Amino acid sequence: MSSAVCPAGTELPAGFAELLIAWQRQHGRSGLPWQHTRDPYRVWLSEVMLQQTQVSTVLSYFARFLDAFPSVQVLAAASADEVMALWAGLGYYSRARNLHRCAQVVVERHGGVFPGSAEALQTLPGIGASTAAAIAAFCHGERVSIVDGNVRRVLARLLAFDRDLAQTASQRALWDLAQALLPQAPAPEDMTAYTQGLMDLGATVCLRSRPQCERCPVMTLCRARAAGTASSFPVKTRTLKRRHESWWLLLLRRRAAEDADRFWLVRRPAPGIWAGLYCPPVFQSEAALLDALPQALHPDLQALDPVAHSLTHRELRLHPLLLDAGTLTGMPEMADGQWVQADALQAHGLPAPVRLLLQRLLA
Ligand code: ADE
Repeated sequence: MSSAVCPAGTELPAGFAELLIAWQRQHGRSGLPWQHTRDPYRVWLSEVMLQQTQVSTVLSYFARFLDAFPSVQVLAAASADEVMALWAGLGYYSRARNLHRCAQVVVERHGGVFPGSAEALQTLPGIGASTAAAIAAFCHGERVSIVDGNVRRVLARLLAFDRDLAQTASQRALWDLAQALLPQAPAPEDMTAYTQGLMDLGATVCLRSRPQCERCPVMTLCRARAAGTASSFPVKTRTLKRRHESWWLLLLRRRAAEDADRFWLVRRPAPGIWAGLYCPPVFQSEAALLDALPQALHPDLQALDPVAHSLTHRELRLHPLLLDAGTLTGMPEMADGQWVQADALQAHGLPAPVRLLLQRLLA
């Protein structure tokens, strides 16, 4: 086998695409509900859900979403609250807001049909280069490479690519190499197997820690494996630093013998954390929470165990304080919310840790 030379001058291992395609067809994942379709709506929905979330979590959300919104037209016509309620728990809520906007743009400006090329798809809200490539490759067999975090790891190891992927220029160079590694003149079904193969390899074999090199279909081509340095790739200097922050949550509960419990929930403002979701009132300190309550109620506050919750740029520590209150008299800060009955919580978009907290109180 000969080796190709890519535009950047790096010599590429020959036969990579063929080995990957053959392996995917025999050993790759084939039963996922967003496979075996060329419907851009389904592929787009799954790719957005999978951007920061594992397959096992996405499965049930994908099914429920498709049930509620079977087409891009139905999704575009839904309310933001309906979309948020079905997204709640998946996290990274800007994805849901962009998803909804994207559906509206597809309906209003593209007659309900997703654009066909990766380049055009990238102009839509929430569709980055890798998601656009996945949709174009899966639905139209376009010869374009995905390069998400998993794929960067696979390719960095394969090529022993030692440039710092915290730099945009290095990411661009790796992308060019990914393009050069694509199968030559592929049929559409080859691009499907190749693209899924890259994903499957990253998710099931070329793992971040403890890569399973002995199971890898391209082991003989992998330069990091040959040098015994697989775990040193990818090279990335800048690691995410999360700011620590504490929030105090006032869980106002109204209990009535003849009725289910109700909780006072406020829609979180946009922009900001959990924008558009429903949450008990949030305070930046315990003192601020106490200030918002009549003094006479302070002795009735019950501190629950704090909950840790990680966001992309923040480590949140949530301090829930429970108060059984019949009315909101004397609580001016509580003006913009609503009492939500326990059995209606499911229909509201709640942040995952808040849903858990409330569920525990109901159990
Ligand atoms: N991660 C991102 N896209 C995926 C897909 N189509 N299948 C499995 N995992 C994925």
